[in-house]
Amino acid sequence: MRTAASEPAQAGQRHDEQLISIRGATLAYPTASGDPVQALNPIDLDIRAEAFVSLVGPSGCGKSTLLKILAGLLHQSEGEVTLDGRPLTGPSPNVGVVFQQPVLLPWLTILNNVLLPIRVQKRNVDEYRQRAMDLLAMVGLEGFESRYPSELSGGMQQRVGIVRALVPDPQILLMDEPFGALDALTREQLNDDLQTIWAEQRKTVFFITHSIPEAVYLSDRVLVMSERPGRVIADFEVDIPRPRSLEDVSLPEFVELTGRIRRLLNAKGGID
Ligand SMILES: Nc1ncnc2c1ncn2[C@@H]1O[C@H](COP(=O)(O)OP(=O)(O)OP(=O)(O)O)[C@@H](O)[C@H]1O
Ligand SMILES: [Mg+2]
Repeated sequence: MRTAASEPAQAGQRHDEQLISIRGATLAYPTASGDPVQALNPIDLDIRAEAFVSLVGPSGCGKSTLLKILAGLLHQSEGEVTLDGRPLTGPSPNVGVVFQQPVLLPWLTILNNVLLPIRVQKRNVDEYRQRAMDLLAMVGLEGFESRYPSELSGGMQQRVGIVRALVPDPQILLMDEPFGALDALTREQLNDDLQTIWAEQRKTVFFITHSIPEAVYLSDRVLVMSERPGRVIADFEVDIPRPRSLEDVSLPEFVELTGRIRRLLNAKGGID
């Protein structure tokens, strides 16, 4: 296996056909006391179209901050962020976001929840209804279209959150610990669902997790962030053939790579 692992040099390496490019992006949060909180040190990162890239790092290191910049919800203090060569100026219909909690509207059916972004973006709902139904079926929610969120389990609601992000057919999917609140078994199922979605829908995925095995299992690359102010300290390539199955977690290369990432994080103060 090629684990192009290394300390800083690999981070920000250029590949062909970059979809996301981050150059020297920093983020300082203003605070009431006047002393800004430096959340991110300069980040240089390129992500090619259709890549699955995970980000791991200690709690509070700046992972969500970086994701919010890519979502257009925060603007970097310095540096430049481009999507498909164009500077990012705010939320884009081309970028779907999935957070840890799906935050569904309780008074809307599942189908209407996943069609909500279409309504908000003032697109023609009729054109997206079939896609929404197909995506719900793809994640095992066929027959639940007319139910309400309170009638679904946590794992089912998180599937709905993923489908909602996918319905507008964004090129990029940003996921911030989407499975963090779920039990291990549901999480494994959703990892498989996500692998299928990624393979069939050809999305570019930026995925934050606290689980190193989950990151390795799903990704083409696993980025490791330092403690706050976060910077990317390593960029591991995962060369395990796809589609991957749960048995792959016992492959020597899987165990070796998760061990390397874990040792790096422990050396830098741990993942949590
Ligand atoms: N709105 C804010 N104002 C001030 N400081 C903030 C704000 N949001 C986040 N921070 C600080 O910025 C740092 C990075 O936060 P961020 O949420 O990006 O971390 P994280 O890596 O996602 O952590 P976790 O793994 O716990 O989710 C933290 O120290 C946090 O306290
Ligand atoms: Mg976070």
